[in-house]
Amino acid sequence: MITKPISFEYIEDKAHLGGHSLLDLVETYKTPLYVLDKDTICHNSKQFLDPLKAHYPNSKVLYAGKANLTLGIAQLITELGLHLDVSSGGELYTAIKAGVPPSNIYFHGNNKTHEELNLAIQHGVTCIIDNKQELENLCHLHKGKNRIEVLIRLKPEIDAHTHKYIRTGQLDSKFGIEKKDCIPFIKEILKHPKLTFKGLHSHIGSQIFDDKPFLELINIMIPIMKEIKETLNIDIQELNCGGGMGIFYSDNDHPLDIQSFIESFCDSFKKECHQHQLALPTLLFEPGRSLIGPAGITLYKIGAIKPIEQIKTYLFVDGGMADNPRPITYGANYSFDTVIKNERPLHHYSIAGKFCESGDILGENIALEACEVGEYILVFGTGAYNYSMASNYNRNCRPAMIMVDQSGITELVRRESYDDLIRLDQML
Ligand SMILES: Cc1ncc(COP(=O)(O)O)c(C=O)c1O
Repeated sequence: MITKPISFEYIEDKAHLGGHSLLDLVETYKTPLYVLDKDTICHNSKQFLDPLKAHYPNSKVLYAGKANLTLGIAQLITELGLHLDVSSGGELYTAIKAGVPPSNIYFHGNNKTHEELNLAIQHGVTCIIDNKQELENLCHLHKGKNRIEVLIRLKPEIDAHTHKYIRTGQLDSKFGIEKKDCIPFIKEILKHPKLTFKGLHSHIGSQIFDDKPFLELINIMIPIMKEIKETLNIDIQELNCGGGMGIFYSDNDHPLDIQSFIESFCDSFKKECHQHQLALPTLLFEPGRSLIGPAGITLYKIGAIKPIEQIKTYLFVDGGMADNPRPITYGANYSFDTVIKNERPLHHYSIAGKFCESGDILGENIALEACEVGEYILVFGTGAYNYSMASNYNRNCRPAMIMVDQSGITELVRRESYDDLIRLDQML
């Protein structure tokens, strides 16, 4: 279980990542600063790819781009042998511009616009159809154009025990069609000469620590695959089991061991297929957070410390809810540390951002060696759903994001400037 990026260490009391002193990085790139550890991304990719190669070679790992996607990240994940799932025209455009082969891209979304569908058709990426209207739109839009491969997103109707905002598999979820509608839906697809039905997709939710809901998914998919075989005489070619494997943010989080999870999932799936005389489809997983989340840290500078006698001490940092909206959105917890170890006594802080919202708190009651204004702190586990969810709230510039390893520093996204903020504004 990785609780910190692989290459993170204190050398002579100063935090380092990929061999680079974080103090040097903040001097060059300023704060707030997102830093990704390339070694951790490579390691986490192998945690999926290696056991799949051994236990289910006919498989693909799609990186869920919503976790964190830039041109450089799209290039890296392609180099690592991962495929990509995108969930908007913007993510698709990024992937195409980065040179990701369209055949590696799967396009998600419960309300893809006509413009987005046209982009998908133009590049021939696989579409994961969410609902009937989308099927109609796709059929209508791509008349006379190239063939499109499609998967159907099914609600597995599993209630994974995670925060309600990141639960997706239950019956009342906005994503996907109901199991009972699957056969008529496939029949509709088959009627259309330019659509190729490839298979099924399901994603049960995010930040899941238990392998049971994933194994339950097998028990749900097998009867559907069987029904498709018996009613339509179709062996599905692809089964996408989604992502959602949880990561360590704080002491309550106990992530799955990915290698053994993949092993046991594949073994159970093969056994079930065999028992039900079903051909083995290509098996797809689409993790986001577990690939890139643990690789990230965010660096902040302390701007002020405000004690409220006998109640709490606020530590004000130069970022907050705009670069990390997860705490204010769903009460997410994080682990913190100081960039320099100084052996001062521990002190408990409420780490607050600089945005005009009382709820802009990154962490409550966080024990750190006593801090002083002008020093730096770091937050672990910010590689996923931080940069990708960031905003310009209060007209603040979004931070830079860099990736580091022993061979150097790559600037993935430069820091925004005030000119960037007004770039699209029009004067009256
Ligand atoms: C369809 C789908 N696939 C994959 C993911 C990735 O989930 P995670 O980053 O938790 O692995 C999500 C996340 O919301 C999703 O909705």
